[in-house]
Amino acid sequence: MSSNLQFTVGPGGRLQGDIRVPGDKSISHRSIMLGSLARGITRISGFLEGEDALATLRAFRAMGVEIQGPDDGVVIIHGVGKDGLQAPEDALDLGNSGTSMRLLSGLLAGQGFEVTLIGDESLSRRPMQRVTEPLKLMGAEINTTPKGTAPLIIRPVDGLRAIDYPLPVASAQVKSCLLLAGLYAEGETWVTEPAPTRDHTERMLRGFGYDVMQDGPRRGVRGGGELVACEIDVPADISSAAFFLVGACIAPESDLTLRHVGMNPTRDGVINILRLMGARIEVINEREVGGEPVADLRVRSAGLKGIRIPQDQVPLAIDEFPALFVAAACAEGETVLTGAGELRVKESDRIQVMADGLQALGIEAEPSADGIVIQGGRMSGGRVDSHGDHRIAMAFAMAALRASGEIHIDDCANVNTSFPGFAGLAQSVGLQVSQKDV
Ligand code: S3P
Repeated sequence: MSSNLQFTVGPGGRLQGDIRVPGDKSISHRSIMLGSLARGITRISGFLEGEDALATLRAFRAMGVEIQGPDDGVVIIHGVGKDGLQAPEDALDLGNSGTSMRLLSGLLAGQGFEVTLIGDESLSRRPMQRVTEPLKLMGAEINTTPKGTAPLIIRPVDGLRAIDYPLPVASAQVKSCLLLAGLYAEGETWVTEPAPTRDHTERMLRGFGYDVMQDGPRRGVRGGGELVACEIDVPADISSAAFFLVGACIAPESDLTLRHVGMNPTRDGVINILRLMGARIEVINEREVGGEPVADLRVRSAGLKGIRIPQDQVPLAIDEFPALFVAAACAEGETVLTGAGELRVKESDRIQVMADGLQALGIEAEPSADGIVIQGGRMSGGRVDSHGDHRIAMAFAMAALRASGEIHIDDCANVNTSFPGFAGLAQSVGLQVSQKDV
């Protein structure tokens, strides 16, 4: 992938139309993982054909799983059963994808072969002790660099022990890692969350016929069961929809409908926060598809106001803050975020990189250790660096709807990790975006 793809976005305009954004990234990853471990044939539709989910797909192919597609979002997996994976010939390269690396570390800790997990520069900087430490408590043999980062080398052991583990951070990746390791452990593996995080792993395990126990904030699995193949319909990713939600809120005269959006209550913080800011978002045609709530969203322009973001919404909107910071920059008054230190260890340091970009566009943005204070104001055009972070690039693309001049965004190639076709789709509803390799 080229790392110097640049977006140029013309100022102003409005968003109008009726679109469906690509499939949910978290659900797409999990569908490949569980489909591979199941007995029988799993058919997935709406699969996200972005680089992150494709990295997971390639990893399972490299471990001997026959996978057809993706072909227009359809993937067919010939599951090999829980103990049917084979040693890959080479290290598994997971690119930019933290979800692939953290979930796979748990899933692979109990296999009978050695495997090495590697990633790109950004992924190789991200903290992995949050998974390797509890996995070691389970008896896994897993090595990181002295800094606790990838490459991860996982060696076979004589069985894993179940643990009962309080998560030090609210992280669905760590929770999922341990539940997946728990499928291979002797006894019941339990995790306790400090705050609710996305529950796609639990829902999908149940969809594959695997019992997930629940006791207040604790989730548990008993090792040794089987997964049975099923059909999966992946909803559109609310995290990708978030850029359009914000764009349509901030651009005058916008009226946009987003179809088949995943509305899992552990993911809907962006809607709750935007509504607190004064957004006009209608949730239409609510339904359930394959164990996940789905709806169509109609969003129209609104005058937003700054707010203090409620703490309980932070884990429910953890990937949407780049877009929400742009909403805050266009709102009247001050928006205050605290308790979001996790943003500093995402694909980039999203607090610093967003603060730098907003300041480059003339907005007052004061970062803190675990949050930011943003004063709504007039945005100029200018040049911002996404630092290779897909969500930063897309957030600043939407900012142009309210800027007084062109915005140039550097290092946008990783938009493909979660949202292939972003520029074309955004253009089709009114964003004046063009992209070029410079
Ligand atoms: C994800 C969990 C979240 C999120 C990431 C995807 C998942 O990370 O930020 O984009 O699919 O489980 P954390 O578990 O680090 O919060």
